[in-house]
Amino acid sequence: MTTVSVFGGTGFLGRRLVRRLASEGTTVRVAVRHADRARSALHAAGLDRVSVFGADVRDQATVAAVVAGADAVVDAVSAYVETRGVTFEAVHEQGAKTIAREAAAAGVARFVLVSGIGADPESGSPYIRARGRGERAVQQVFPAATIVRPSAMFGPGDALFSTLAHLARLLPVLPLICGGRMRMQPVYVEDVAEGIAHILADPGAMSRTYELAGPTVYTLREIFIVALRIIGKRRLLVPVPFAVAEVQARLFELLPNAPLTSSQVDLLKADNVASGTLPGLRELNVLPKAIEVIVSTYLGRSRVDA
Ligand SMILES: NC(=O)c1ccc[n+]([C@@H]2O[C@H](COP(=O)([O-])OP(=O)(O)OC[C@H]3O[C@@H](n4cnc5c(N)ncnc54)[C@H](OP(=O)(O)O)[C@@H]3O)[C@@H](O)[C@H]2O)c1
Repeated sequence: MTTVSVFGGTGFLGRRLVRRLASEGTTVRVAVRHADRARSALHAAGLDRVSVFGADVRDQATVAAVVAGADAVVDAVSAYVETRGVTFEAVHEQGAKTIAREAAAAGVARFVLVSGIGADPESGSPYIRARGRGERAVQQVFPAATIVRPSAMFGPGDALFSTLAHLARLLPVLPLICGGRMRMQPVYVEDVAEGIAHILADPGAMSRTYELAGPTVYTLREIFIVALRIIGKRRLLVPVPFAVAEVQARLFELLPNAPLTSSQVDLLKADNVASGTLPGLRELNVLPKAIEVIVSTYLGRSRVDA
């Protein structure tokens, strides 16, 4: 792939993918709403040769400008909280469709949509439903599209371990939604970026759906325990029913960086693990790294509280 346009190229996943592709000699275009912020971040990362386009997936003309002449397009755009004008449907369904349709019209060879494990067009959750409908819309307008469904991703700056560690340093007790029984299979964000880079290099990945998950399945309770062990804290874990978590999430969403969102609560209502029926990192020749190896490198340690 010589020219790849990455929508959401400054995000938690997107910026790692951009760095990886650029280091392989690919010409990369980053498409985001906040172009100036993106230029500063890329400059700070020494990636001055990556070009930045101000684009909004809800604006067809800006999307068309970014995909024209590209060999591949990746949609790694995210919206975790609905605000005025930014709905899950507008970003994850209509936005994904707009990018895929414009890419098809421009003759782009490859399209990758980053979705998520559990995406379901019939879900009662607006977030999970928009993800499922986004996948379906993309497959309709760009049949060769590759769908990538990661489980919860971890890495420096993640919304999982970094948030847990932050809360554990602030609070004497931690709320554990529904007793933390739900299972998940967290995956290292760099492994997902590597998997997408391999997908772009492999025509055999066209029209396929991949579930990208880590090597181990954990319950949410086990995730809390691992995080507490790594930062050297002991905290009481207090079970919280879903109904209470939903109210908490709606209140948190009034803050700029919500530690918990309604979409996350929805995702916790079902296990978030690979189905085993779809290809994953192994088929992409990526060896998934374990939480225990990676998370301790960025959460840091403090003394065990009495
Ligand atoms: N993080 C996880 O654990 C996780 C797990 C499973 C699946 N996923 C999926 O992985 C993908 C990437 O997630 P992430 O966590 O890396 O996202 P993120 O850190 O929130 O980044 C989102 C990116 O999208 C851009 N963006 C947002 N709205 C946009 C719009 N309307 N038009 C154009 N660009 C827009 C943002 O830049 P601007 O704000 O400048 O526009 C930013 O670059 C998403 O599809 C997400 O659902 C994430």
